Order: sequence, then C-alpha cells, then structure tokens
Amino acid sequence: MTSAKQTISPVRVVKKNGIRVEVYEDAEAVSAAAAAMIAGRITASSKFNLGLATGSTPIKTYDELVRIHEAGELTFSHVTSFNLDEYVNLPPTHDQSYRYFMMKHLLDRVDIPLYNTFVLNGQAVDVDAECSAFEGLIKARGGVDLWLLGIGGNGHIGFNEPGSAVDSRTRVVTLDDCTRADNARFFATLDDVPTHAVSAGVQTITDSHAVLLLATGAGKANAVAAAVAGDCSVDCPASLLQGHDDTTFMVDVQAAKML
Ligand code: PGA
Repeated sequence: MTSAKQTISPVRVVKKNGIRVEVYEDAEAVSAAAAAMIAGRITASSKFNLGLATGSTPIKTYDELVRIHEAGELTFSHVTSFNLDEYVNLPPTHDQSYRYFMMKHLLDRVDIPLYNTFVLNGQAVDVDAECSAFEGLIKARGGVDLWLLGIGGNGHIGFNEPGSAVDSRTRVVTLDDCTRADNARFFATLDDVPTHAVSAGVQTITDSHAVLLLATGAGKANAVAAAVAGDCSVDCPASLLQGHDDTTFMVDVQAAKML
C-alpha cells in the first residue's frame, strides 16, 4: 500500500465531454488514487463537506483513508459527511442499511464528529420533510466540496435510476428491478430487498463543487462508456455529469475497456 504522499499514476487519461477519466491498472490502484485525492483535498481545507457513497466499489477507498488516518497523516475533525442515499424502511441498525455500512467502513474508524455525519433517515414519518431538511442542511453548510460516487450497471448515480430528471433533488425513489437484483446478493432473498429508497437527486449531486466517480470491473464497462462517450441523457444518469465542470472518473482497465 502507498503513503498519502505518494502519487499513483494512471495508465491512461481520457478527456471526453468535459469528463476526465483516469484509467488505473486495477481496483487497488483506483482506491489508492481516490483516497489520495480525497485526503489531499480534506487536508488542504479548514472545513470540508464530503459526499459519500455506499456499495462494494468504495470499500477499499475507505480502508485506504482509514490507513492514512491511522498513519497520522489525515484528520477528519473538520469534515462533515453527507450520504447519497438510504433504503426506505430499513432501520439504521440493519446490517444492510447505509448508515450501518458507513459506520462500519469509515465513520466509526476515523475522527469525524458523529454529529457531522448525515445519512438520510429512511424511516422518517414524514419522508418528504426529511428530504427537504437534507437539502437545507447541505445548503446551510455551504454545499458539498467533493461527492464520491459509484455507478450502477444501468448508469445510476446514487439511486437516481434511468429517467431521473437533471434537476431532481432529494426524494423518495422506486428502485429498478435490475438494481434490486444487483443488490439481492446482500439480502436473504430478492423479496427482502427494499423497493424504495431516499436519494439525493441528480441536481443535488451536480451542485457539488467536484465529483469523483469510481468504477471497477468489466460489469461497469458499458455504463462508463455510456456516461462518458454517449449522449448526455436521462437514460444514463451518470452522463448528466457531462455538464459538470469538475468531474473525474477513476476506473480500472476492465471498466474502461469500452472507452
Ligand atoms: P457497487 O454499486 O459499488 O456495489 O457496484 C455501485 C452503485 O450501484 O452505485
């Protein structure tokens, strides 16, 4: 593993439709480069608002951020975190809830003040009020400085499934059948996968000052190619990042193979 100060070089860089794509040898290198970028930006700032994602892709990046923190090279004491999404009707103690995921993989392992970590409450009695409060909080804190994203096989970002409007904001969404099937591996049966989630909208994401999207593995190759080289269209929500002026994709060779 690398130190926070070491530079991990991409094997190739592609710039298309306003998106900078850094291609790395493998998932390890993607995670090291992503963690180095995030750590660098957190360290360069006296107050930092970090957007976070769940899923299997960012886990190694979180491990690397923890390692850099434990090496004494990174503090999260001035960081506020906002998570992209949460399942509706799953308690935060459920091992598939995204609050549980974030505590396990990052928040409980670094020195971020827990009162500055925000994951939508999918059990809120008034879920619409919960969504507007989340938007208000981001605004009140001065906006998100960097939003870390994964990408779904169908091009979704957060739980913004194909068809999500470019100006969508945090709201309740219905999960696509393919997203539920993708996530069924984490639940006992497909029927146990929630049908709804609360998700930051496309506009909530594109309002952030910078976006860093990670993709690894051949299963993401079509979605990455559609996002970067396809039309800017709601059919592939990640392609809506083409209109954003500071978006970087860090992907491995497999995920870049259709580019
Ligand atoms: P994954 O999910 O990292 O588990 O592939 C990414 C996503 O659906 O956004």
